Amino acid sequence: MAEELIILETHNKEEKYQSLLPQIQALVGSEKDLIANMANVAAALKAVFDFLWVGFYRVKNNELVLGPFQGPIACTRIKKGIGVCGKVWESQVSIIVPDVEVFPGHIACSSSSRSEIVVPKIFKEKVLYLLDVDSDQLDAFDAIDQKYLQKIIGLL
Ligand code: SME
Repeated sequence: MAEELIILETHNKEEKYQSLLPQIQALVGSEKDLIANMANVAAALKAVFDFLWVGFYRVKNNELVLGPFQGPIACTRIKKGIGVCGKVWESQVSIIVPDVEVFPGHIACSSSSRSEIVVPKIFKEKVLYLLDVDSDQLDAFDAIDQKYLQKIIGLL
């Protein structure tokens, strides 16, 4: 397929996700390599929404290890139960953080980050990896982001 992303000229977040979803499906559907697909998903989300940081953490040897991402450099390894990512790994449930400064134990990889959402990919009751998105705006994420980020992760 042509590697060109169509970005809707709208401020409606749901419309943007709805336009992005089939494009991601086409992009990852023909490729089996998980890392390649993660890299394109991070790039597509960053291009469409201009988030501060979009990336993946993979569960590897009982730690989270940084995967493909777009944005400022980030922490390489995170332990279970630590930070937003570690908590999502432990609980296996997505977390939306409206204000990172009031989330106990939040790991500040970038001082520009103000809010965050982390969504886990679960297979056979185990977390395989997480999709982490940071914004430089407070309260940037809601149930719409959670719904579509979960759908995107479901395509991988
Ligand atoms: N803030 C995350 C760490 C990862 S960075 O945001 C990229 C956390 O608290 O787990």
